[in-house]
Amino acid sequence: MPGLRAGRTRRERNKVDKRTDAKNIAVITGASSGLGREFCRQIDALGYDEIWAVARRRDRLEALQQGLKTAVRAVPLDLTDKAAIGSYAALLEAEKPNVALLINAAGFGKIGSYRDITQQDCDNMIELNCRAAVDMTQVSIPYMRAGGHIIEICSTAAFQPFQYLNIYAATKAFLLRYSRALRVELLKEGIIVTAVCPYWVGDTEFIGTAKKTTDSAYIHGYPLAGKMRNVVGLALHDSRMGRAVSTPSAVSSAHRFFSKIFPDNVLMAIWEGIRRL
Ligand SMILES: NC(=O)c1ccc[n+]([C@@H]2O[C@H](COP(=O)([O-])OP(=O)(O)OC[C@H]3O[C@@H](n4cnc5c(N)ncnc54)[C@H](OP(=O)(O)O)[C@@H]3O)[C@@H](O)[C@H]2O)c1
Repeated sequence: MPGLRAGRTRRERNKVDKRTDAKNIAVITGASSGLGREFCRQIDALGYDEIWAVARRRDRLEALQQGLKTAVRAVPLDLTDKAAIGSYAALLEAEKPNVALLINAAGFGKIGSYRDITQQDCDNMIELNCRAAVDMTQVSIPYMRAGGHIIEICSTAAFQPFQYLNIYAATKAFLLRYSRALRVELLKEGIIVTAVCPYWVGDTEFIGTAKKTTDSAYIHGYPLAGKMRNVVGLALHDSRMGRAVSTPSAVSSAHRFFSKIFPDNVLMAIWEGIRRL
């Protein structure tokens, strides 16, 4: 991924900055499926020396190499386990790469009332969507240079409280706030942080995982769900443009706009109608 120096052509902006002896790597969590895997595909032509692909399913991570020109290093880790961050930190220390791109896409949600979601799922949502994303970012920053990019995959769920998605939405609000403040701290170091806030994406494993609770019927449908190919393409474009927040569809852009106009109780009343459609 590019730096944002003025006067660079689009072709130059799309290529990795090679002025370093260290390997230029892209680290992508959640790379075994959905958006994370699609990010791996879409950055394949950008000239990274390696993609470090992080998730739990080792076989999926190893299979990623098929079809990609860039060398893929499978880094199988359960990021809800705090010790996993130590393993990742040790790998960075041993290899001393230049982390030119970090994408935190690992995450999950659960649909249901407070009664329908297990304590373990509640805790793991917070661990993965908040603590692990922060730890991966904190540990990676010392290995980043000017021109580096960080992409935190948040959600439109960050824009308001959502009954029956309450913990998930709260974790994404946390990640959005964290990303925006970190961005300001890192601007002077030339590292760009972009919070990506997609609306429902229908062709990943997310919705299937979210529905595995004792009662997920609180949300009836997923109208206007997007496709991961478009979401990832727009997210990468917005990161290249140096944007603070990426809303990679018309629905997510509209949601962001209205969330700045209406108070939370109005937005939650509108959601109460939408979730029954
Ligand atoms: N799809 C949507 O509607 C939507 C909308 C807005 C935002 N998002 C966000 O987009 C991100 C990607 O989701 P997706 O739609 O691509 O869903 P997905 O297909 O279910 O992908 C989730 C990824 O997270 C990884 N993961 C889950 N638990 C993990 C753990 N404990 N340790 C390490 N990795 C773990 C999974 O890999 P393993 O199972 O192999 O570990 C998988 O690669 C998430 O942060 C999600 O909140 C999704």
